Order: sequence, then C-alpha cells, then structure tokens
Amino acid sequence: MTNRDQTAAKLLRGATVNFTDNPRLKGDDNSVQYETKGVIVISEGGRILWQGAFAQLPDGFKGLPCDDYDDKIIMAGFIDPHIHFPQYRILAAPGKDLLDWLNRFTFPEESRYSSEEYAAKAAEIFLDRLFANGTTSALAFCSVHKTCADTLFAAAEKRGMSMITGKTMMDRLAPDAVLDTPETAARDSQDLINKWDNKGRLKYAITPRFAVTSTDAQLQVTGDLYKDNPDCLMQTHLSESPGEIATVQKQFPWSEDYTDVYDHFNLLGENSFFAHGIHLSERECQRLAESGSTVVHCPTSNNFLGSGLFDIDHLSKPERPVGVGVATDVGGGTSYSMLQTLGEAYKVAMLKGRKITAHDAFYLATLGNAKQLKQDKDIGNLETGKYADIVVLDPKATPVLESRQEVSENLEDVLFSLMVLGDDRAITATYVAGEKVYQG
Ligand code: GUN
Ligand code: FE
Repeated sequence: MTNRDQTAAKLLRGATVNFTDNPRLKGDDNSVQYETKGVIVISEGGRILWQGAFAQLPDGFKGLPCDDYDDKIIMAGFIDPHIHFPQYRILAAPGKDLLDWLNRFTFPEESRYSSEEYAAKAAEIFLDRLFANGTTSALAFCSVHKTCADTLFAAAEKRGMSMITGKTMMDRLAPDAVLDTPETAARDSQDLINKWDNKGRLKYAITPRFAVTSTDAQLQVTGDLYKDNPDCLMQTHLSESPGEIATVQKQFPWSEDYTDVYDHFNLLGENSFFAHGIHLSERECQRLAESGSTVVHCPTSNNFLGSGLFDIDHLSKPERPVGVGVATDVGGGTSYSMLQTLGEAYKVAMLKGRKITAHDAFYLATLGNAKQLKQDKDIGNLETGKYADIVVLDPKATPVLESRQEVSENLEDVLFSLMVLGDDRAITATYVAGEKVYQG
C-alpha cells in the first residue's frame, strides 16, 4: 500500500452487495452482505478504503466528492475468465457445430489479426464492450499472432485494467495464416511473458488453443514453457463437443481420455483453465480436482453451438470438487453480458435438474472467478485494499425489470431478475481502479 492508497479520494453511494465467500458451501448468511444504504470509500490510488452502511461512515471520510447511485446496486465488477478478443465481430456467426464454426468463420476472422492496425482498432472496441457490460477483468484468448497479444496488453495497460491474456498456439488443422510452429510458439510466448507478465495489472496466460490444433511436439513445448514460467496461467479448451472429442481420440490414440492428453504434457494444475468441460468422465473430474485445475462454464456458447449441457453438480461433487468458473466465450458465446451468461447458466442447470441461486451465480461471476484466477488479493469483492473495480446495476433498467421489481424488492429476488432479464441496458456505470470508465 502506497500513500496514495491510504488517502481517501471519493465515495460511491448506493445499495452495496458484497460476497465474502461461496454461498453454495457456506450458506447465504455467511457469504453475502447487503447494505441498502451503503457507501464505498475509494483511495487516490483507486483502492477500496472502507465500505459499509452510510450511517456508519467514519467522520474522516465525510464530505468527500460522491457519486450517488441512490438505490442502484453497487458490486465488484464482473470477471470473464474465458473470452476471445479476435472474435469480437463474429458473434452469432452460425455453424453446424464447433469444428464447422471454427473453420467457416473463426479462423478466417482471426487471420486478420496479423495486422497491428486491425488489432489495435479492435482492442479498443473489445475493451469498450467489456466495460459497457460491467466486466472489469478478463482471461482472454488472442489470435496466433504475437502482435495481437501485444496490442491487447498495451490497450489494457493504458486503461489500468486487470487483464490476463496470451498468444494462441496452434500448429495444425487450420489455414496457414493462423498457424505457428512449436519453435515460434515457444519463442513468441516467452518474449511476451518477458515483456508483459506481472507488468502492473497484467498477467500472461500460456494459450494452446486445444489438442485438436496442436501437435504432440507443440504440446510438449507448451508443457516446458509452463514449467519454466510457473507463475503464468495456462488456458485451453476441453471436452466441448462430441466431434472434437472424437477427433482428439483419433489424434492421441494412446490417451485414456481427452483430459489425459493435457495431463500427459503436464498442463494440469492450479493455474490451469479449461473452457467448457461438458462431457467429462468421473476419472477426468478426479484428475482435474486432484490437480487443482479449473473448468470454465460457458453457457451461451454451449447453447449456441449445441455443444451440450454442463452439469454443475457432476463437476462440484463434494468428495472431489472441480473448481468452476463462468464465462461468456465470446464469440462462440452470444453475449458480452455476464448477466445474460448467468441467466443461461441458470437455465442450463434447470435443464439438468440442478439449481443455481442468484447468490451462487453472482458469487461465481465475481469472487468465485477471482479466486480461481488467484486474483482475489486484488479483485472480486469490496474488501478493503482491493482495487475499486466496480459495476453499478440498475434493477429498473427496462420496463419489464421495473414491473418485476414491483412484485418483490427483496435484494436476492432483484439480483435473480437481473440475471434472467438483464443485459447491457442494466449497466449504469463501470469503474476501474476507482475511475469511471463507462456511463450507461
Ligand atoms: N475450441 C477451440 N477453439 C475454440 C474457440 O475459438 N471457441 C470455442 N468455443 N471453442 C474452441
Ligand atoms: Fe473458447
């Protein structure tokens, strides 16, 4: 903490919601705090100095400049732990399934990111969209091109935001324009790590696209890179669609299952993020749990591409819980909105006979994702000392939401209606490190 972090600069007033733990494990009473007339004190350095009931605001903080949001909801900004930057233009590009969609739309669009100019323009649009949806931090894929990752890091740094990303590694089964080699992938990734990892609020994620598009040789260098840079994250895709799983089985005939392919190359671990994980066996879940890996649920993408229904209870079995995050997976995902994403996660759970409460969902999108990313020292809730990365939600943003609120003003019910009915229209403002970066 610097002096700037100890000097109070401004207040945010509104109804504060703060998750302190996982409601699924600890129960609502021990994990969520509400203040209907709450206030957050933000330091000059953009960190949270105090939060609680406005009536209890310590004298020393009174009279500071105040952004007053009345009865709107103030909470930690959303964290999106699986999103593709170079897919910002291809939301709702139709495909028969994942592999068809990748070949027809995704690879051609990603090939454009060899141009620094194209990538730089796209980065601003992409980050604007995150902020307009209340998302203040992300674990993102870039394209295969080094320049694409460079550009996104630079744009995120300029905005002072928390961003984890990396150059995608892929050396087979795609057009040449989006392929690297094991050698160039290793060299470019290491260069980017040296340049960006732990610079300010940035972190590097080693990013093999998925087993389908990486040869054994490339997965081998990926494992080496991960071993040499144990502080980095590793992100990839796992067990998303039946066609993909069948392909992996053919490509790696020696493997026990899809997870075993990544395991063989030492890619499981506490910093490892596997998007989707829809069709995982008991054995795979055991290995993922044992290794401390995270599976990231991407419901709008899974529904759009017909990939299958994620089973939260299967992943979360108490005797071997696999860590779970929730994310948009734009552009396989159909919305940047974490509200819509949570609403779809709720519906997927319902179709599987499972239950996700509003508290479970908002916890996942904030503190839950922060913990999985090992970023909860700095983000995820309103605790003193964390960055003031904040979203302000309007529970009456649309006539439909407004009518719904007439029936019940109970705050959990309001959060529930926001996740089922809300979207970017419900975002009143977004703050990054105490600075307003979006106004709805
Ligand atoms: N699997 C490999 N690449 C991708 C991608 O870009 N999106 C999704 N949803 N799955 C993938
Ligand atoms: Fe993805």
